[in-house]
Amino acid sequence: MSETLHEGDCLEVMQTLPAESVDMIFADPPFNVGKKYGGKAGSDNRADYYEWCARWIAEGFRLLKPTGTFYLMTIARHVFKMGCEMEKHGVFVNKVEWRNVSACHSKRGFWPSTQPIVVFGKTKEFRFNTYAQRRKITQLRWGGYKTKPQGQLLDYWDDIPFVYAGSVRHPEAILRPGTNKKAHPTQMPVNLAARCILFSTNEGDTVLDPFNGSGTTGTACIKLGRNFIGVERESEYVKLARIRWANFIDANVPPKKTNGLQETPHSPLV
Ligand SMILES: C[S@@+](CC[C@H](N)C(=O)[O-])C[C@H]1O[C@@H](n2cnc3c(N)ncnc32)[C@H](O)[C@@H]1O
Repeated sequence: MSETLHEGDCLEVMQTLPAESVDMIFADPPFNVGKKYGGKAGSDNRADYYEWCARWIAEGFRLLKPTGTFYLMTIARHVFKMGCEMEKHGVFVNKVEWRNVSACHSKRGFWPSTQPIVVFGKTKEFRFNTYAQRRKITQLRWGGYKTKPQGQLLDYWDDIPFVYAGSVRHPEAILRPGTNKKAHPTQMPVNLAARCILFSTNEGDTVLDPFNGSGTTGTACIKLGRNFIGVERESEYVKLARIRWANFIDANVPPKKTNGLQETPHSPLV
């Protein structure tokens, strides 16, 4: 399996990749909300935000194989525009709502508690591994079931905590040295990417993340035996992701047997 990380602009890099060469895309783009990626003010504030998204969405669909699937994580404010753009190129699969209590709120409206992930197949032949994961059935459906319940996942995912840091930190949080702040402001949980990958790809398939950030999708790919292509504009995050993957691989190498003694692997670092 391989991980390739391009430092640069996602659109420019995507334009160099061959058509129909990837099995899945997971895109967690900037949301145009004024985050300071790479510490730079103005790095998440585009006047042409929707036109720009339309360009990389179109490019993403060009890269997908006919069996491929495009996951696009966004925020409620943008979900309708993103959905319409995806609809131009692909086939609707789901609008997943990921429970994310860190989502910011305003007192003039209901408190948003989820992040939408729009899911589109490139064609009707998109891969979907129906029971890649199952849920425990705690209550029976209204009206009962005609067949035995199989624990098929719902489109509401409330079992994957977001990556928090501060006085208490999520075990995956990568901290800026000497602080309790995250090294990447929007690091997402590995299990979120892993779930999408498990449902939409098989071992040996290729996944593209055009907004690599701290390298979460790549980490999930290494864990699950998928090839990975990432693109990231900020060199600080490119370095961060490369170190993260190297540590993850080191920590997960099966222990070698030496004179009957087992070597202890490095402490797990995600
Ligand atoms: C929401 S974050 C992704 C976080 C990632 N999912 C993670 O778990 O770390 C978006 C990332 O896209 C990067 N980015 C913004 N514009 C870009 C562009 N035009 N091309 C490539 N990367 C870009 C930002 O630097 C940021 O790291």
